[in-house]
Amino acid sequence: MIEFRNVSKQYSPDATALRDVSFTVAKGELVFLAGPSGAGKSTLLKMIAAVERPSAGQVIVNGQDIARIKPAAVPFLRRNLGLIFQQQRLLTDRSILANVMLPLLVTGASRAQAEQRARAALDKVGLLARADAQPLALSGGEQQRVSIARAIVNRPQVILADEPTANLDRASANQVLDALKAFHSVGVTCLISSHDEQMLDAAARVIHLKHGQLEVAA
Ligand SMILES: Nc1ncnc2c1ncn2[C@@H]1O[C@H](COP(=O)(O)OP(=O)(O)O)[C@@H](O)[C@H]1O
Ligand SMILES: [Mg+2]
Repeated sequence: MIEFRNVSKQYSPDATALRDVSFTVAKGELVFLAGPSGAGKSTLLKMIAAVERPSAGQVIVNGQDIARIKPAAVPFLRRNLGLIFQQQRLLTDRSILANVMLPLLVTGASRAQAEQRARAALDKVGLLARADAQPLALSGGEQQRVSIARAIVNRPQVILADEPTANLDRASANQVLDALKAFHSVGVTCLISSHDEQMLDAAARVIHLKHGQLEVAA
């Protein structure tokens, strides 16, 4: 489903984010991407979503080479990806239900259909009872679960979550991870980054990055 072949990424001659990274993620796998701040985790996830392109090597997602994908095809690629990225905040001027409905409305769903599916998505992350709340009335962990609901409402085949547990206490972090694992358990491929080694699931596959390089061949 996702394959990196000898991928390097240089933002500038003196900013190398990834060096010769190769790994594959199979359909339905749950993979943690670990490594300290600056290791290249966000860069790696952004390349899967075609936010950044490799300087060398190939990134293959669903059989498509990200380096060759036409700009017009990027929205179609992203429709199959549920993105939980740090820079995508919830809109604070509307309810969490409205936030989760948004990806459906922009892809042409009717309001009634969008509301029904958004409520189902909020139910899956345990927040249906808070549907009418404003984002800022929720805890950090609850807001992160709303972001998960928003990311999965279009039923993507892959979830990419960039440090979804950062800044959360352990209990909230575990709730966020449980919500992600619930989607993995129904067949969604999940790639979750964290700089916190304690957040890694001992049972899951872990890819370790350090200074832009894979530490343990995966
Ligand atoms: N847009 C950018 N321009 C220049 N350098 C960048 C950019 N984004 C990230 N970097 C650099 O690339 C390296 C990896 O960053 P990043 O992928 O954000 O790591 P992580 O998510 O593991 O903290 C860091 O040295 C960072 O400073
Ligand atoms: Mg990062």
